Amino acid sequence: MKALQDKIVQDGKVLSETVLKVDSFLNHQIDPKLMQEIGQEFANRYKDAGLTRIVTIESSGIAPATMAGLILGIPVVFARKRKSLTLAGNLYSSKVHSFTKNETNEISVSKDFLKSDDVVLIIDDFLANGEAVKGLLDIVGQAGATASGVGIVIEKGFQDGGKLLREKGIRIDSLAIISSLEDGKVTFAEGELA
Ligand code: G4P
Ligand code: NA
Ligand code: NA
Repeated sequence: MKALQDKIVQDGKVLSETVLKVDSFLNHQIDPKLMQEIGQEFANRYKDAGLTRIVTIESSGIAPATMAGLILGIPVVFARKRKSLTLAGNLYSSKVHSFTKNETNEISVSKDFLKSDDVVLIIDDFLANGEAVKGLLDIVGQAGATASGVGIVIEKGFQDGGKLLREKGIRIDSLAIISSLEDGKVTFAEGELA
C-alpha cells in the first residue's frame, strides 16, 4: 500500500536493525486519514469473505481494526492484556510470549463477543514473531469460530511470524512488508509497492 509505505519512509524512525518506531501515526499519535485508508484496504480485500467480526488486540490494533469494521459494518472486538474484574470467568484466554519484551501476557476475550458461527478477520499493527496473532487464532479456535485471515499493517519480513503462519496455510494480508532495517534505512519486500 503506497500511502502507508510513503508514511513509513517519511515519518518512521529506524531505532535498530530490528525495530521501527512509528509513534507519530500508529503507536502513539494516530493519523486518522491514513487509518481510514488502511481500513478501506482491509475491507476491499475481505469484502466477499462473509465476515461477521473483526478481532484485534489492545492497544495499537484498535485504530486500524475500527476503521475496517466501520467500513464493513461489523463489530470490532479487542483482546485485553490485563484481567478485568468485570470480565472474570466468562473468558477465552491465551498466553502470548513477546520475545521483543521478554514477557508473557495472558490475553482474553469475553465469550459474549465471539461465537461459533462468527467469521473473523484478525487485525494487528505489527507482525514480528507472530506470537500475538497465534494467541488471537487460539482464541478464535476456542470459540469454534472461523478465522478468514489476518490483516497486518506492518510486517517485519525478516522475522519469522509471517513465514510460520503462511506455512500453516493461514491467509496473511500485510499492507507493508519490510525486508530490512539495515543501515538505518527501511527496505520493503519486492512486489509490495502497489
Ligand atoms: P509478535 O506478536 O509478532 O511475536 O511480536 P512481539 O512480541 O515482538 O511484539 C511485542 C510488541 O511490540 C507488540 O506491541 C508489537 O506490535 C510491537 N512491535 C514489534 N516489533 C515492532 C517494531 O519494530 N516497531 C514497533 N513500533 N512495534 C513493534 P504491544 O506490546 O502489543 O503494544 P501496543 O499494541 O499496545 O502498541
Ligand atoms: Na504494537
Ligand atoms: Na499490537
